[in-house]
Amino acid sequence: MLLLDGKLIAKKVEEELIEETKQLSEKGITPKLVTISTVKDESSYSYIKSQMKVAKRIGIDFELLEVKADNVFEILSSLNQSKDVHGIMIAHPVDKTLDELRVLKSINPEKDVEGRTPENLGKLMLGKPSFLPCTAEAVVRILTEYSIDTKGKNITIVGRSTTVGKPLSMILLLKNYNATVTICHTGTVDLKQHTRNADILVVATGKAMLINSTHVKEGAVVVDVGINFVDGKLVGDVDFDDVKETVNAITPVPGGVGPVTTVLLMKNVVDSAKRIAEDEV
Ligand SMILES: NC(=O)c1ccc[n+]([C@@H]2O[C@H](COP(=O)([O-])OP(=O)(O)OC[C@H]3O[C@@H](n4cnc5c(N)ncnc54)[C@H](OP(=O)(O)O)[C@@H]3O)[C@@H](O)[C@H]2O)c1
Repeated sequence: MLLLDGKLIAKKVEEELIEETKQLSEKGITPKLVTISTVKDESSYSYIKSQMKVAKRIGIDFELLEVKADNVFEILSSLNQSKDVHGIMIAHPVDKTLDELRVLKSINPEKDVEGRTPENLGKLMLGKPSFLPCTAEAVVRILTEYSIDTKGKNITIVGRSTTVGKPLSMILLLKNYNATVTICHTGTVDLKQHTRNADILVVATGKAMLINSTHVKEGAVVVDVGINFVDGKLVGDVDFDDVKETVNAITPVPGGVGPVTTVLLMKNVVDSAKRIAEDEV
C-alpha cells in the first residue's frame, strides 16, 4: 500500500512559493491575503491559524478581519479595490443573517483565491477554469504528483458539496483528466455498488469511518477528504486501518488532503499577486 503523503507535496509547493515571493519582493510586491470572519467558530479558527502559519513561512502578508455581518459588503468593496490585497477569503461558516450568494457575488473574481464566486465556478463549468476551489484542486494535485492516471478511470466521489464534491467532479470531467465520474450523496440508494466500482474513490462527507473495506475495490486508490474529531482525535471519513490491506494507495488523515489544500490557497494568492503586477506593467 502506497501512502499518498500530502505533507511532502505541500512542502515542495511551499518551497517553490518561497522562491516566487522572493522574486516578487525584489519588485516591491508582497502578496497579501485577507480573511473575513463573521462568526466565532472553533474549527474555522483552527483552519485560519494553520493558514497564518503557512502564509508566514512563505512570505505572504496575512490579515484576519473579524467583522460584524452588517459591515461585510462595505469591507469587501474596499478590499476589492485595494492594490495591496491579492486574495480575499470568507471564513466558514458565515453569520446566519448573511445571504451567502450575495457575499460571494461581492468578491472580485480576480481576488477569489478560493474559487468560490459564481464567476469562477461558472468558468470551471464552461471548461475554462481560473481559480479552482482549493480542496477539489488538492485532490487532483495529489493524484497527479503520484502519477495516478485519471483518464478513462471510474472515479466515485462521495459528497456533493459546492466546496468539494461538485467542483471536483467538474475538474475530473475536463478533457485533460477525462474520468468517468459518479457522485454519491445521502439520497444514493446503494452506496457500496458505486464505491466498489471505483478505480479511484474520493470521500468528502464529514462522517467519520463511513467507508470501510466492504466499500472498496481491491487495488483501488482512496482519497479521504474528511476531517472529524472523535474522542479528541482527528480522523477521516475512511476507516484507514480496515481498508489499508485492500487498497493500492490512500491518503492519511491528518497529513493528506489538508496540507495540500492550504498550500494551494497560498499558491493562488501568489499567482494573483503576479497577475495583478503584470497587469500594472
Ligand atoms: N482536508 C481539507 O482541506 C478539507 C477542506 C474542506 C472540507 N473538508 C472536510 O471534508 C468533509 C466534507 O466537507 P464538505 O464541506 O464537503 O461537507 P458538507 O457540505 O457537509 O457536504 C457533505 C456531503 O456528504 C454527503 N453525505 C453525508 N453523509 C453521507 C452518507 N452517509 N452517504 C453519502 N453521502 C453522504 C452529503 O450529502 P447530501 O448533499 O445529500 O446532504 C453532502 O453532499 C468534512 O469533514 C470537512 O471538514 C476537508
